[in-house]
Amino acid sequence: MIDRIRIIGIGMGSPEHVTGEAAQALSTVDVFLVADKGGAKADLVAARQRVCDALIPSDHAYRVVEVADPKRGPDAERDDTAYGQGVRDWHAARVDAYAEVIDGLGDDETTVGFLVWGDPAFYDSTIRVVDALVERYAAAGADVEHDVIAGISAPQLLAARHRIPLNRIGASIHVTTGRRLVDEYDPALGDVVVMLDGGLACTELADAYPDLELFWGAYLGSPDELLVRGRLADVIDEVRRVRAEARERHGWVMDTYLLRQPADTPTVPAVTGYPETGPLTDGVVVVRPVTAGDWQVVRDEHNDEESLRWDLFGKPYTDDEARQKAAQARREWRSGRAARFVIVDAATGEGAGVIGVMRMGPPGLGLLGYGVVPAFRGRGFTTRALRLVSRWAFESAGLAVLELGHKAGNVASGKVAARAGFRAEGRLTARLPNPDGTRSDEIYYSLTKERFDAERPE
Ligand SMILES: C[S@@+](CC[C@H](N)C(=O)[O-])C[C@H]1O[C@@H](n2cnc3c(N)ncnc32)[C@H](O)[C@@H]1O
Repeated sequence: MIDRIRIIGIGMGSPEHVTGEAAQALSTVDVFLVADKGGAKADLVAARQRVCDALIPSDHAYRVVEVADPKRGPDAERDDTAYGQGVRDWHAARVDAYAEVIDGLGDDETTVGFLVWGDPAFYDSTIRVVDALVERYAAAGADVEHDVIAGISAPQLLAARHRIPLNRIGASIHVTTGRRLVDEYDPALGDVVVMLDGGLACTELADAYPDLELFWGAYLGSPDELLVRGRLADVIDEVRRVRAEARERHGWVMDTYLLRQPADTPTVPAVTGYPETGPLTDGVVVVRPVTAGDWQVVRDEHNDEESLRWDLFGKPYTDDEARQKAAQARREWRSGRAARFVIVDAATGEGAGVIGVMRMGPPGLGLLGYGVVPAFRGRGFTTRALRLVSRWAFESAGLAVLELGHKAGNVASGKVAARAGFRAEGRLTARLPNPDGTRSDEIYYSLTKERFDAERPE
């Protein structure tokens, strides 16, 4: 019975890329399980064998057992849900196949090793499969320990071969697959590393982003290594040709590439966020930006019966949801999506409610939302907070018009709006959904900067 499973990253197939730690680990394994993917991938199985031959001392006895890899469905034609389910089914079938082999091992074969191409952390399922195996043995009362040894992965070797760091100074790196690239590409992502790309998806970006710099590498670490670097629109045809010829020769191709913004592109997207502000107060009420620590007031305001009654969905927040809402407030503020404030009692420091401005629709327009917890209702807190935030929105955030709306019947909300100087603009039929599937009319209000300046509601 086995007592240890070792997941060993072997780099890109050359014994020279195997780390010292991995080389030592190789010499402790009795049986290597290698997925036999058939046909074109036979070269990769041979490369694994070469690594073992080169690095395991001749006095250490071991076996390599090829385990037929279960068939996978047609990934390219699947949507994301079907793809995910397909991969999970495939993993389960792999776990069964490995368990069958392990159960048939000899008594003296106690350490099993998985040789992982590159590094086990990059687009490789071995860790998940071994977790499932370990769990299966634990359920049967057998204690099997496991460890993971890092290897050199394709993106690392790509960067080394092109003699570049993968990130620009202080910027992020986005690692994705060919399957996702076109859907998710956005210059705001920064530098993008693409793996698992059967069809060179960056071809589809060449017209829209011709100036991206492409660093492409195939068969990295092998004697057949191919490298191309250049402006995407200039080199894409060459890469397509070189890649197709190589695929023809080998019967398979594995390539990885980096798409990098031109050097003069700012590494941080232009700041469109709201200006930072400290607490704003009129002496009775303080409003200050929501922080992660304000989650309880975010929850309590939302979950109050009266708030849920007028809410679009009528669903209370769980504590975790409230924590996430509060934690996201900083990012929303910085991105300019919403400026969320907590309303605080100036006398006691107690959280009374929330008020926020969302930037939406035409430029210069902000949509307000607000609410206080029951203990603070009827004390004018919301009106005071609305005045403070309106002033900030016009004078500091550069907004020209503030709008807000409430469901017809929500009289209290309308009174707050009117007291803070907002003018009813009209009734919008069936604009707002109700939790029971019906829809309510919305009473809409606005306040322009001109009117605010002229009337200066106090
Ligand atoms: C299943 S993933 C495994 C990645 C691996 N665990 C690693 O750390 O690189 C396979 C993908 O890795 C990349 N890859 C693996 N070996 C490569 C090589 N020798 N040259 C270029 N890309 C390679 C390709 O993008 C390929 O589609």
